[in-house]
Amino acid sequence: MPPPSYTVMAAAIEGGGSLSDFEPAKGKLQSEAMRRFKVSSIVRPRPGMTRFFPSRHPSALQTTGQVLGVLGVCTTITVCSLYVTKSKGQSRAESNASPIYGVTIPAGYRDWHLISVKRLTGAEGKLKQLRAELGNDIAMMAYREGRLPFPDGTMIAALHWNEDSSDADNQVLADGFPGLGLESTFAGSAVNVQFMVKDSKKYVASGGWGFADFTNGKPGNEKLHQTCFPCHRPANDRDFVFTRYAPTP
Ligand code: HEC
Repeated sequence: MPPPSYTVMAAAIEGGGSLSDFEPAKGKLQSEAMRRFKVSSIVRPRPGMTRFFPSRHPSALQTTGQVLGVLGVCTTITVCSLYVTKSKGQSRAESNASPIYGVTIPAGYRDWHLISVKRLTGAEGKLKQLRAELGNDIAMMAYREGRLPFPDGTMIAALHWNEDSSDADNQVLADGFPGLGLESTFAGSAVNVQFMVKDSKKYVASGGWGFADFTNGKPGNEKLHQTCFPCHRPANDRDFVFTRYAPTP
């Protein structure tokens, strides 16, 4: 079932609107709307639409046309309401967004820029993690200009992996630099990824930041997300962000 927005768009375009009326910056949305438009105009002709754009179809304003038009509008409204009810139900049942904040995994975050790397160990040696903080373009601009608070649109990702090592790598290092006991480690299996997304109007109650934690693409529960902001409070003099920009070697 197409979400209602596409149905509405397709209907309006069919009646004489243009795709550029709908978020011209979002190419994906446009092409999706185009696809839906084609499908809906083939399988579901809606005579009622002529009533919204009479100048395009003056001949349809006959008596029969008007009756069909009313029926068509009713059908469209019913079908649209069904879509809305259904999609609302679905999003509650299997949401991909973090609780409290409603942040989803930002597209392309794996290609963001490196802010810094970290290591986290503990639990008597059972916990060994390597971590990378990445930022989108807005985050990098703010970091490089030393700008605080971070501007709206800033997104920071924290990628966490289990720390792993390779005997083969270490053997090469031992052969090349004998006697130094060199050991190299690397990012092994993925643990989770966390995001902080700046929107000073939307997230007033949490310092302007929306928080999100995902494991295997699924958001953590509400209890987990209640811990984020309180624990980031100590960094309030740096807009609740702990990570500093690592110097360029
Ligand atoms: C126990 C305190 C604590 C909790 C709880 C916590 N954080 Fe953090 N967070 C930190 C610290 C300290 C750092 C910097 C050190 C590090 O990354 O290991 C950090 C770093 C981050 C970063 C990288 C940017 C920065 O501030 O350095 C993100 C993104 C992040 N946390 C998101 C989250 C999210 C999302 C949650 C909730 C699911 C969360 N954090 C919960 C303490 C916490």
